[in-house]
Amino acid sequence: MKRMKIADLTPEMILASDVINCDGRFLLPAGAALTERSIRLCKAWGIVEAEIEGEEAPSFDAGRNDVDPAALAAARRLNEYRFLHAGTKHRAMRELENLSSLRKARAIEQGLPGGRFSVIGDDDAEAVEGNVPLEPINLGRLSEFGLRLPTLPAVFDRINETIMNPNSSAGDIADVVGKDTALTSQLLGIVNSAFYGFVSKIDTVSRAVAIVGTKQLTSLVFGISVIKIFDRIPARHIDMREFWRHSLACGIAARIIAGYKQIQNTERLFVAGLLHDIGRLLMYRLWPEHSRRVLFAARRESRLLNEVEKDMLDIDHAGIGALMAERWKLPFLLEATIRYHHAPGNSYNRLETAIVHLADIIAHVMEKGSSGEFFVPPLDEDAWDLLDISENLLTVIIDHVDRQIDDVTAYFFPGS
Ligand SMILES: [Fe+2]
Ligand SMILES: [Fe+2]
Repeated sequence: MKRMKIADLTPEMILASDVINCDGRFLLPAGAALTERSIRLCKAWGIVEAEIEGEEAPSFDAGRNDVDPAALAAARRLNEYRFLHAGTKHRAMRELENLSSLRKARAIEQGLPGGRFSVIGDDDAEAVEGNVPLEPINLGRLSEFGLRLPTLPAVFDRINETIMNPNSSAGDIADVVGKDTALTSQLLGIVNSAFYGFVSKIDTVSRAVAIVGTKQLTSLVFGISVIKIFDRIPARHIDMREFWRHSLACGIAARIIAGYKQIQNTERLFVAGLLHDIGRLLMYRLWPEHSRRVLFAARRESRLLNEVEKDMLDIDHAGIGALMAERWKLPFLLEATIRYHHAPGNSYNRLETAIVHLADIIAHVMEKGSSGEFFVPPLDEDAWDLLDISENLLTVIIDHVDRQIDDVTAYFFPGS
């Protein structure tokens, strides 16, 4: 008996145990022979793996032997350095490294470079040699800057008020959103995108409220509003599009994991993923020279960026992001996921922080965008245990992120 990924199942294999989905719904009995239809059913119900009688699970390379072994070997060599801090001892990291190598190998086969390797040129790295020591950063600037930031659009407050009013209906919420035509078209675009994957088109906000839910829609409005404000902050040493792409990939992955953990309002986790590295955007904006020196030192010494941030600045981007969240009065639980996304064990919102922690690692593994970090961040094993998911789910999450990211980027950043 072997556990096999749903993607590797073929008709006529015999189930060694019952197939039950995450809601406890019984789908197929032990002893049943699989058919094309039952495999499709399992996929539709979000089943990740099944136990099969008398079958050897294919090894990574054997199961995916459509790639050229030389390209795969080259991909693995490239990944050795990227996984320097994350390692591959843990089974989840081993699976992620496998998936990453496969993606790189396919890129190499197509004559592509196999991924992003550095955001810093060697010439630039030399230019910082001999610089004078850094002054400590003045965190007071964060408060001043916070005061100068525009507040969330009034429409967000009005939606929140309407939701808090027990007498308001879905129609009332739709009325409030409907007054902002740009927001309405953006929201409907997202609701009709691969993010939700609805079969029929949703063409009014009231229908979107009825189908998606008020809290979920409010979280989306919040995400759109925050991006609008922060996207206007030009920052040196970072490509804003790349930064938001990394954030969106993390948000999408967090939402998918939250769905598997049956967390209500998965959109809240999407927003938490979207904002997890917001502190880095503020660092690049407020302390560009410090940020540049941190970036170079991290690359020169092959160290993780957030550790170098702490050493050189006494605070890392997670701390800066959390300070900003506090001063901006973002929800308390959101502030916790931002503050502890690299140390989820310290969080007072442990499960959600663990979700964002893993989603960030996945976004790095997929090399979707960049917030400046070159290496794949290490996995907190306690966070993994707390999540209690199968490593076979990782390939499903990556597939979903791949399918959604371009669509979601287009609607969150129209015209980009
Ligand atoms: Fe981070
Ligand atoms: Fe990140």
